[in-house]
Amino acid sequence: VKRPRFSRRTAWDLRPNAHATGAAEARAHADGLVDLTESNPTRVGLGVGAELVALLGDARGTAYDPSPFGGADARAEVARYYAAKGVTAPVERIALSASTSESYAWLFKLLCDPGDRVLVPRPSYPLLALLADLEVVDLAHYDLVESRGFAIDLDGIADAIDARTRAVVLVSPNNPTGTFVKRAEADALAALCADRGVALVVDEVFGDYAHAPLDAASRATFAGEARALTFTLSGLSKVVAMPQGKLGWIVASGPDGLVDEAVARLEVIADTYLSVATGVQLALPGLLAARAEVQAKILTRVRENLAALDAALVGSGGARHPIEAGWYAVLVPPDGGRDDDAWSAKLMREARALVQPGYFFDFVEGTRLVVSLLPPEDAFAPAARAIAAAFRAVSGG
Ligand SMILES: Cc1ncc(COP(=O)(O)O)c(C=O)c1O
Repeated sequence: VKRPRFSRRTAWDLRPNAHATGAAEARAHADGLVDLTESNPTRVGLGVGAELVALLGDARGTAYDPSPFGGADARAEVARYYAAKGVTAPVERIALSASTSESYAWLFKLLCDPGDRVLVPRPSYPLLALLADLEVVDLAHYDLVESRGFAIDLDGIADAIDARTRAVVLVSPNNPTGTFVKRAEADALAALCADRGVALVVDEVFGDYAHAPLDAASRATFAGEARALTFTLSGLSKVVAMPQGKLGWIVASGPDGLVDEAVARLEVIADTYLSVATGVQLALPGLLAARAEVQAKILTRVRENLAALDAALVGSGGARHPIEAGWYAVLVPPDGGRDDDAWSAKLMREARALVQPGYFFDFVEGTRLVVSLLPPEDAFAPAARAIAAAFRAVSGG
């Protein structure tokens, strides 16, 4: 068989790295191993129950009535979700997709030609690199400055925008730093993007998971942002902890003429795929109605695990970063000359805890480890204590 040529965009090095190999081995000998990388709510008892899943079987789903952005009733439900946050999101500016990842892909298609550039935060969510690869889009980073509470390096963004830059991506609250974009940052960015003809793409999937009432300085949502062309992203995977629901959405806002043109083009992209299943659209009112209960359960878990982590870390020589929101915590191990991989391997061995190395998220300021706060409390707390013991052994505390 003559080997066909594959696309350059898929020429990834697919060999597992040291961390992946170690993690696979550790999972194979799973006795006592606590997986603190688990962020799938349905695997830790936090997913929706069978009664809500049953809504996906609505009998009206026997008919297929496709519409590029999804059915009007489902989109009106998303509009109500934003109305509850005090923001107007007109139904005609809401597009449903299968997931936030797909929303990104559609927006990169809308905004970028091959080789055009999007700016993404560092540290942040690792999937952005693959999403850009797949659209043949060039990714450049701007920094969230760790020593300033992960504040956005606004000068860095202004400098990084060049003739090929089409979008600035914000993740708010960011994964894994758990920090919201601040109002002052949002104002500066909206003005900058409007001035430079660059769109804002704002991923707010963790927006409902603030650990405490939002600080007045933090910006709750960008839906409704009127100054720059803005696309606000979220979906069921976090809002009701239902990634298997496969429904995300995009809210377009900004200057009217720009939004109208963007929406018209986006409609053709969406119409090409018609991604969203009918069942989940019909179920959307019931699913979104359950969000308060689902989110309360998750936040209770997250707060308890965070309290256990903090109690364990006292006197350990290690620390965690403050977080405003989300399902993750960033650990700073004591300085022992070990890098991310060495620490995660050590914790796998000695603490029987699986954690994520910070470089997955492009942390640049030293050794960092990321843990999910979703695992059950009775597994998380002992794992946190074992991690703290390993920190203490190194720091001599
Ligand atoms: C910041 C962020 N954005 C997007 C996603 C993907 O969401 P979806 O399941 O809707 O594609 C995730 C998933 O973990 C995420 O952490």
